Amino acid sequence: MANVAFIGLGVMGYPMAGHLAHAGHNVTVYNRTRAKAERWVDQHGGRLAATPARAAAGAEIVFSCVGDDPDLRAVTVGPSGAFETMSRGTIYVDHTTASAQLARELAADAATRGISFLDAPVSGGQSGAENGVLTVMVGGDAQAFERAKPLIAHFARAVTLMGPAGSGQLTKMVNQICVSAVAQGLAEAISFGLRAGLDMKLALDAIAQGAATSWFLQNRGKTMIDGKFDFGFAVDWMRKDLRITIAEASASGTDVTMTKLIDGFFAEVQQLGGGRQDISALIRRLRTA
Ligand SMILES: NC(=O)c1ccc[n+]([C@@H]2O[C@H](COP(=O)([O-])OP(=O)(O)OC[C@H]3O[C@@H](n4cnc5c(N)ncnc54)[C@H](OP(=O)(O)O)[C@@H]3O)[C@@H](O)[C@H]2O)c1
Repeated sequence: MANVAFIGLGVMGYPMAGHLAHAGHNVTVYNRTRAKAERWVDQHGGRLAATPARAAAGAEIVFSCVGDDPDLRAVTVGPSGAFETMSRGTIYVDHTTASAQLARELAADAATRGISFLDAPVSGGQSGAENGVLTVMVGGDAQAFERAKPLIAHFARAVTLMGPAGSGQLTKMVNQICVSAVAQGLAEAISFGLRAGLDMKLALDAIAQGAATSWFLQNRGKTMIDGKFDFGFAVDWMRKDLRITIAEASASGTDVTMTKLIDGFFAEVQQLGGGRQDISALIRRLRTA
C-alpha cells in the first residue's frame, strides 16, 4: 500500500480520493475549504493537511483535481505548494482539466526537482468519479505512467498514455470538441422535432439504434425534452474547457469554427442563468427563442 496525497476534494476529487482510501492506501488530503477535508477524513479515515506542501510531504504519489490553470499553479508551484516538499523519484498526477501549456511547464519544472509530472484529465463526470469508472487520458513519462496506473485504476475503467507532457490535456480537448458538437446537434434536433409536432421521446427511441445514436442521446435526450438540467457537467466548466481548447487551436492554427460557435451558445445559456446547469441546457436558448 502506498502513501499518497490528494489535493482538491471537489465534486470529482472527493470520491476519487475516497476510492484510493477504500483500496487501502494511506491518503493525506488537502482542501482549500477545510470543512470538506474534515468531512472526508470523518468518512474515510486518513489524515488532513493544512497546505498542499504538508499533504505532499512523504507521499510517493500526489494527486490533484482543482479548477483551472491558476488553481493548479497555486497548489503545485505556489507558496506552500506540493512541489516544495516532494522528494526525488515521486510522481505528481494532475486530474484537473487545464491547458496543455501549463502541463508542459509543470512537467519541466518537476523534472528539475526529480519529480515526474503526469497530466491526467478525466471524463465521465460526477457519477463516473463516484462509481470509479472514469476515463483518464495521460501525458508524460512512460515509466511514471506504469507506476501510477494501478492507483489511478481504483477510480477509472480506462487509463491511456497518450504521449509526452500535455498529451492528456490535448486529448481532453478533443473529447470536449466532440461532446459540445453532439450536445448542440441533439439540442437542435429535439427543438426541430418538437416544433414539427413530433412525439420526440418516441422519435429518440426510433433513432437510438441507428447512426444518430450517442451516449448523449441515450442519457440526456429525454431529460432535455423534460427541461431537466440538474445533473452532469456544468456549462461554466465547459466554457472554461472550450476557452482552453480555442486558445490551443489558435496557437496551432487549427480551424475550430464550430467549437467557437457552440461556445457562444454556452455563453447565452450562462446569460439565461444556466451556468451551473449541465451542458444539455444548451437547448434552453432554442426553446425560449
Ligand atoms: N464535475 C465534472 O463533471 C467534471 C468532469 C470532468 C472533468 N472535470 C474537471 O475536474 C476539475 C474539478 O472539477 P470539480 O467538478 O470537482 O470542481 P469543484 O467541485 O468546483 O472542485 C474544485 C476543487 O478545487 C479546489 N480549488 C479550486 N481552486 C483552488 C485553489 N486556487 N487552491 C486550492 N484549491 C482550489 C476547490 O476547493 P474549495 O473546496 O475550497 O472550493 C475544490 O476542492 C475541473 O478542472 C473540471 O473541469 C469536472
